[in-house]
Amino acid sequence: MNRSYQQPVNLAIDIGGKAVGNVGFTIKEDIYRHNAEIGYWLGEAHWGQGIMTEVLPAMVNYIFVNFQVNRLFGCVLEGNKVSMRVLEQAGFRAEAILKKAAIKNNQYLDEHIFALLREEFVARQGSISMAGKQ
Ligand SMILES: CC(C)(COP(=O)(O)OP(=O)(O)OC[C@H]1O[C@@H](n2cnc3c(N)ncnc32)[C@H](O)[C@@H]1OP(=O)(O)O)[C@@H](O)C(=O)NCCC(=O)NCCS
Repeated sequence: MNRSYQQPVNLAIDIGGKAVGNVGFTIKEDIYRHNAEIGYWLGEAHWGQGIMTEVLPAMVNYIFVNFQVNRLFGCVLEGNKVSMRVLEQAGFRAEAILKKAAIKNNQYLDEHIFALLREEFVARQGSISMAGKQ
């Protein structure tokens, strides 16, 4: 069974005792059961202060340590460069573009898929700790 039922999958981002955003994930089912999709948002007043850049790697670590997930991915609508940057900084690579997959304000938008495999996460952890030792 691919679920660590004791562990939450949705966490609030707490700043000074106030919930200012959210980061969560959903584990897929059946043949996709080792995939998880990550999602996040932050109240506008807190944008651009490096918060999600700090939060996302912590969440990625939490997921790979506590859940039987082999592939973690995030979906970003075209134009959301900041969100793409946050994912890339957490080790995700741009994997695919689903052309006109979404509709928003009556306009079709491309969806950019970013993914991080467990083996990439492990390799990244190694290079981070190696860099720390130098
Ligand atoms: C996307 C979101 C989570 C980013 O969180 P954040 O804490 O503001 O992001 P950070 O401050 O960590 O910035 C991430 C990177 O984007 C850059 N950035 C931030 N604001 C920017 C802006 N307005 N223009 C260009 N770059 C910007 C930062 O400089 C940083 O890059 P760097 O480390 O190379 O300098 C937040 O803007 C948000 O909640 N947006 C609405 C919901 C949303 O889009 N969720 C994601 C759906 S996929």
